[in-house]
Amino acid sequence: MERTLAILKPDCTSRKLSGKVIDKIENAGFKIIAMRLVKLTDETAGKFYAVHRERPFYGELVEFMTSANVIPIALEKDNAVADFRKLIGATNPAEAEAGTIRKEFAESIQNNTVHGSDSVENAKIEIGFFFSGRELV
Ligand code: CMP
Repeated sequence: MERTLAILKPDCTSRKLSGKVIDKIENAGFKIIAMRLVKLTDETAGKFYAVHRERPFYGELVEFMTSANVIPIALEKDNAVADFRKLIGATNPAEAEAGTIRKEFAESIQNNTVHGSDSVENAKIEIGFFFSGRELV
C-alpha cells in the first residue's frame, strides 16, 4: 500500500465543498488514514511551499493558503501518489480532464481546490509535516 497527502485548500473549505471532494476521494478507492482541520500561518505555509520560494506566485500562494482553514488528509491506496494526481487533474483547471476534481471545482491555477503529493518521497515528507507517526492508523 502506498500513501499520499491531500490538502483541501481554502477555496474548497470556504465554499463548503469539503464533503463533496472527500466523497469523490473515497469513491475513487482511497482510505483516509489521518485528517485534520488547520489554519496555516505565514510560517507554516511558507515552510510547506519552500520549494516554490523563488517562483513569482509564491507570495500570493502563501497569502491564499493562509486565507481560510485547510484540511490535510493522509490517504492510502495501491499506487496512491499517481492515482491521486490523476483524480485531481492538471494544476490549471482549464487543462484538467473531464471528471477530475479540479475540472469540476477549481476556480483558477492558484485556487485549485486540492493539493496532491507529486512523488512517493515527497508524500512521506508532506505527511510528516502534518501528522505524527502515532496519528497514522
Ligand atoms: P499545488 O500543485 O498543489 O502546489 C503548488 C501551488 O502553487 C499549486 O498547487 C497552485 O495552487 C499554485 N500555483 C502553481 N502554479 C501557479 C501559477 N502559475 N500561478 C499561481 N499559482 C500557481
